[in-house]
Amino acid sequence: MSTWANLGLQDSASPLMEQLIFFHDHALLILVMITVLVGYLMFMLFFNSYINRFLLHGQLIEMIWTILPAIILLFIALPSLRLFYTLDEINEPSVTLKSIGHQWYWSYEYSDFNNIEFDSYMIPTNELATDGFRLLDVDNRVVLPMNSQIRILVTAADVIHSWTIPALGVKVDGTPGRLNQTNFFINRPGLFYGQCSEICGANHSFMPIVIESVPVNNFIKWISNNVNS
Ligand code: CUA
Repeated sequence: MSTWANLGLQDSASPLMEQLIFFHDHALLILVMITVLVGYLMFMLFFNSYINRFLLHGQLIEMIWTILPAIILLFIALPSLRLFYTLDEINEPSVTLKSIGHQWYWSYEYSDFNNIEFDSYMIPTNELATDGFRLLDVDNRVVLPMNSQIRILVTAADVIHSWTIPALGVKVDGTPGRLNQTNFFINRPGLFYGQCSEICGANHSFMPIVIESVPVNNFIKWISNNVNS
């Protein structure tokens, strides 16, 4: 999760988020180089006398500064497309989780396991444990196995919501009447926090998501305890 003064991206907990961070850094580097170059040129214009006896036209430089930006854009566009299609790839998921957005909470269904279902509400500040995270902790966490391909189906019951977890590189809109799909692979245990990120009404800020990533054995124990009850 994000803590004080953490203005950049969160540490990744999935291979896809790792790739997203690499692409972000790559694009940012190109952006910085362009900004520095253009800034330098604009600055040097102040010291230009605008007089040159021989400079009337320049075919070559016009060619270069037309084609060069197009080539630079390709260096952003091609990795972007590669990442885009990688994110969309589904690799034989071992668990499917359905998350349904409501005003203003999430509910979850484990369709593979006798359809375990539960609601997940934010814990109000006055009921929060001393080690709890305000506006971020929920009463029922989503438990998922680490090192497994997980498929997420997202929909909504009333208005558009968005199931977003920065550390996993996941952000999918839940839309009434539709079922959206995404997937991820959590590569370490821990708690991963997320929030709704479609403006969905008065309590939009108060429908967080908490994923509890555990080893597969613990996941099986958790799921079998809940199936019986
Ligand atoms: Cu649900 Cu914003």
